[in-house]
Amino acid sequence: MALRPVPTARSLPPDDVLAPAAIADPHRFFRRLREHDPVFYSQRHQVWILTGHEVVDRAFKDKQLSSARAMASFRHKLAERHAGLMQHALSLLDGWMLLNDPPDHTRLRDPVRRSFTPAFAASLIPRIEARVDALLDSLQEGADLVTEFAQPLTALVICDLLGVADSEREFLRQWTRDYGQLIYGASSHQAGYAESVGRAGDEFYARFSQVIAEKRVNPGPDLISHLLATSRREDWTESELLGTCSMLLFAGHDTTSALIASSTRALLLDEEARAAFRNQPALTESAVEEFLRYDGPSKTFVRTANETHERGGHVVEAGQTLWLSVLGANQDPAVFDVPEELRLDRNPNPHLGFGAGIHFCVGASLARAEARTALPRLIERFPRLRPASLDFAWSPTLVDRSLLGLPVVWR
Ligand code: HEM
Repeated sequence: MALRPVPTARSLPPDDVLAPAAIADPHRFFRRLREHDPVFYSQRHQVWILTGHEVVDRAFKDKQLSSARAMASFRHKLAERHAGLMQHALSLLDGWMLLNDPPDHTRLRDPVRRSFTPAFAASLIPRIEARVDALLDSLQEGADLVTEFAQPLTALVICDLLGVADSEREFLRQWTRDYGQLIYGASSHQAGYAESVGRAGDEFYARFSQVIAEKRVNPGPDLISHLLATSRREDWTESELLGTCSMLLFAGHDTTSALIASSTRALLLDEEARAAFRNQPALTESAVEEFLRYDGPSKTFVRTANETHERGGHVVEAGQTLWLSVLGANQDPAVFDVPEELRLDRNPNPHLGFGAGIHFCVGASLARAEARTALPRLIERFPRLRPASLDFAWSPTLVDRSLLGLPVVWR
């Protein structure tokens, strides 16, 4: 009988997801894991890392895997340590459908799904166009497209979505950064961590309690008013409603700005693709899908095994953690022809950039509308746009793939 060689540390691919090389080029990192085994057990992180399209797609749709359990134990530990400081910050998580399993997931998602239709997202397009044009007007040579275009745009669109004043933009930006430490799992030993997350929770609670109270009296054409109009008070607790607002704000802001920035980068580095994108407006829709696949913002999502089961020829034990690598799946050559190539007309394009299954991104139509509006206008306005430097820095987290900056010149 032929025996498989026992893998040695030498034959295993690097598996430190946060190593500088993995942050700079996660595609290479996940490709090496996938080539070794699409269901890979990382001794370093003590988790399963899934990198093949078929295994990631199946995992997104799998009832054996929970979205709630990992956060529940993390939350429990934080509550034990920082109950006083983090009470509001943690109770906002009650409304995060993303961190719930059915039946709570269904109860939290249904009202949002009913209100947040593609038609509702389409109704925001004239505002998005006006916002894009105003921001483009204000850009100066050397501008950073992340902080001066993509982030303000998506923050303002979220203000429109939730029906809050533009003046809240700065608060929302700071809030996303502070609260993000909780979601991205920053070390709870980091100095000031509990204080800044706790403060973000308290401020959100106070401001949005007021916003909701006002919208109960004076509804507008925004999503919060829709949610209030189409659900009953007993459908959810006040903290679930506040949590839902915080989830929409958080999930919709940085992700979409990361998509706009990395799509711009991809176009600026590929003269032929940029010319095609500019000259053939009919390509816009498929191009945005390709940007989501090629180097999209979704990097890795976390699940916990509800029960011991078989996966990809391995035994996954109940309680073990799995990381679903969207970037890995989106570059799987078993599904995508020459995956490392940017093909704006790629069709079909079954990328997993918005996830799959019951947690499929609720804001996908808004994110698409923003990218389809912003990118053609940006490329049209600045035909000579180019990066000021080829030294790109990326967010050093497990969850997101986003540029920290994209300074550009165009003269
Ligand atoms: C390019 C931008 C975006 C990307 C790449 C993205 C990606 C994703 C992905 C991959 C998931 C599934 C996560 C999982 O299964 O664990 C998800 C869920 C979600 N997204 Fe997005 N998203 C984007 C924009 C938005 C926007 C604009 C909103 C709302 C304003 C939004 C709201 C949500 C919500 C509420 C969920 C949770 C759905 C559920 O658990 O049922 N996202 N998103």
